[in-house]
Amino acid sequence: MRSVKSPMKRWKTAAARLTLVIVIVVPALSLPAAWSQEPAQPRIEEETAKQKKIYQSRGADVPAGYVTNRGLSDYAGFLSSGFCDALGRLGTSDRWLDIGAGEAQAILDYYAPPDDAAPAEKCARPGGLASAVAMSIEDRRTDAWHQLAASLGERIRYLAGKSLRHYSLEELGKFQIITDVYGGFSYTADLSRFMEKVLSLLEVGGGFYTIMQYVHLEAAKDSPTTDYQTELVDAAGRGVKVCSWLKKTACVKVTCESKSGWDPPTEQINIQKVCSDVSVPRMKLLEFVAGYPPDRRFQLER
Ligand SMILES: C[S@@+](CC[C@H](N)C(=O)[O-])C[C@H]1O[C@@H](n2cnc3c(N)ncnc32)[C@H](O)[C@@H]1O
Repeated sequence: MRSVKSPMKRWKTAAARLTLVIVIVVPALSLPAAWSQEPAQPRIEEETAKQKKIYQSRGADVPAGYVTNRGLSDYAGFLSSGFCDALGRLGTSDRWLDIGAGEAQAILDYYAPPDDAAPAEKCARPGGLASAVAMSIEDRRTDAWHQLAASLGERIRYLAGKSLRHYSLEELGKFQIITDVYGGFSYTADLSRFMEKVLSLLEVGGGFYTIMQYVHLEAAKDSPTTDYQTELVDAAGRGVKVCSWLKKTACVKVTCESKSGWDPPTEQINIQKVCSDVSVPRMKLLEFVAGYPPDRRFQLER
């Protein structure tokens, strides 16, 4: 699923080598302090520019590991066990937002005529179909999307050209279900503001379904060989699990299912919004290395 060796690991190895060289060389040369460590901000900007190139890649230039066409059955397999049932319970007046939709194949499958896929793969839908919004930074709409959109009109929308944080609540409206399969949750450089935005778009009683791979797992032992892709630390630099951080958010109920046996090890996350006064503990970005998904390290502000 993940085709490249973690760039963060490579960066850490390079940094460790650099530190070793500096420890040996600095006393002899008395280098200025600034030389001992490349400032984080220019490095992050460089990596953000590389990340943009991944989003903009087309045709043969799209990296093999940057998958943009997962269908609804893939979503049902990746997301926590209640996702399919929750989607099936939506009715015609409800709304589903898929953040980081890529080609929006999951929405295409949801809207495909019932006999085009096995019922279990379609998520049962006795109450009729919800309207759906696909969001992607880059426009990856296919002919199939254009055809369906032409027949359904406003029931489905595809939003591209900017990331989630640049949309207002007025533009998007509220949703009963928000999904994110290797989308913004795995790619954003500002995880706490991303979560704040997601929760602001969720109706009270609604659910956010997502996953994160190569993280410190909540309810299972990490493999000693895990090459962490998203790391969180507290203000003192001690490791914090992504689910522990999420559980500090006010007005949500967080359920995590740790899949230690998956390759890669993955946390399945479901967040139910239970009241409107949401407040997400803030984090700042310490490191970002472009990839699919990128490697990220965040620090809790308090
Ligand atoms: C690897 S693709 C995944 C596509 C799809 N979910 C799938 O599984 O096939 C990543 C998607 O996330 C989108 N994305 C990344 N960060 C985002 C953000 N902050 N806001 C909206 N979309 C984002 C990308 O533009 C792209 O559509």
